[in-house]
Amino acid sequence: MTQPKKLFIKTYGCQMNVYDSERMAEAMGGQGYVQTDSPDDADMILLNTCHIREKAAEKVYSELGRYKGLKAERPDLKIGVAGCVAQAEGEEIMRRQPMVDLVVGPQSYHRLPELEARARGGEKALDTDFPEEDKFERLKSRPKAKRGPTAFLTVQEGCDKFCAFCVVPYTRGAEVSRPADRVLTEARDLVERGVRELTLLGQNVNAYHGHDRGLAGLIRELAKIDGLERIRFTTSHPNDMDDDLIAAHGDCDKLMPYLHLPVQAGSDRILKRMNRQHTAEQYLKLIERLRAARPDLHLSGDFIVGFPEETEADFRDTLALIEAVEYGSAFSFKYSERPGTPAAERPQVPEAEKDDRLQRLQALLTRQQRALQDAMVGREVGVLFEKTGRLPGQMVGKSDYLHAVHVAAEGVVPGDLRRVRIVESGPNSLKGVLA
Ligand code: 5AD
Ligand code: SF4
Repeated sequence: MTQPKKLFIKTYGCQMNVYDSERMAEAMGGQGYVQTDSPDDADMILLNTCHIREKAAEKVYSELGRYKGLKAERPDLKIGVAGCVAQAEGEEIMRRQPMVDLVVGPQSYHRLPELEARARGGEKALDTDFPEEDKFERLKSRPKAKRGPTAFLTVQEGCDKFCAFCVVPYTRGAEVSRPADRVLTEARDLVERGVRELTLLGQNVNAYHGHDRGLAGLIRELAKIDGLERIRFTTSHPNDMDDDLIAAHGDCDKLMPYLHLPVQAGSDRILKRMNRQHTAEQYLKLIERLRAARPDLHLSGDFIVGFPEETEADFRDTLALIEAVEYGSAFSFKYSERPGTPAAERPQVPEAEKDDRLQRLQALLTRQQRALQDAMVGREVGVLFEKTGRLPGQMVGKSDYLHAVHVAAEGVVPGDLRRVRIVESGPNSLKGVLA
């Protein structure tokens, strides 16, 4: 028998890249590859990259630099770049780092085995097309390998919104939804392999149209799968939150009370320049409707500070919006110029100003996050256990609201969903006892 070849994948950026890396690893399984967690003994290194901010993109080149020695020692080692940097920079990557053998954009992953074979043959292999065929249908999966209790499942890709700061519509392309029957088949397969919680992924997941009743229709179908206990979805645009999806938060038990709904900024002037196509008021009204459907809903968001021409007054509008919403968690970023996007051409806010605003924004968000987390003490919540903790007999899982929860839970195994009474709130997690 021939020795299996070893594949090392390093994943950057969003959850969709995590899902894509799993699918690529499975597809390469068919080419005789097994995954390894070290680049040192790998026959192929694949970087699954992110282009959303400048820092993320630059990391790729510094990582590639580190592999120079390995490649010199073992010329047979193949090095590939996948993901959004591959899509955005294409051939430029091979010019900057000639040791790269293969570049593959996110819409061409089903062609990875063929590209790998070409690279093995000594060619420089590049594919950054947006082909017609459904890559997920063509990406072969390894049969029935056991899975952990939680999994991502991509249902939609691409974005037609063109926010003025964002590269996603260029790197991931136009919005495409996977047909509901294929999603349901994959979901059932994952559940058979041990998955209890699914997070449906899409760059604009609530614009999903692979089911005639949209994302809510898909969620209601998924909820009928026995053994699937929890459903989440991310990331959403406020303008695609339809009535049925709002209602589902109130009447679909398996849909978890946690929603990531980015607003980016709280000033109408900036929202307009960002091309978000909604006002702060419309966003707040939407939150009100969601909370009417599900009063205990925890909200999460994304924020950008220092967007071109953002003034102190604009920034304070963002702080005021955050005060009004009370977020359970949030991600915040300094605006980063992305080549080819409209905002990159505009007058920029000085870096020191961005730093100062980010600090103030994060202080407020951290306070809110902590307050909501502390308010869990004394309450009973569902916890899906994922792994053993550091202490003997301790298990770690996630609450319905996505808090990490540590519980002394003898006899509980990963995949168990139990009621837990929260007894303590620490800096990053909760402690509880089985109810
Ligand atoms: N600069 C800073 N943050 C950005 N994001 C997207 N593009 C940029 C950019 N150019 C943030 C947005 C988005 C999240 C995924 O990344 O907040 O919701
Ligand atoms: Fe980018 Fe999201 Fe705006 Fe689409 S909706 S352009 S993915 S920030």
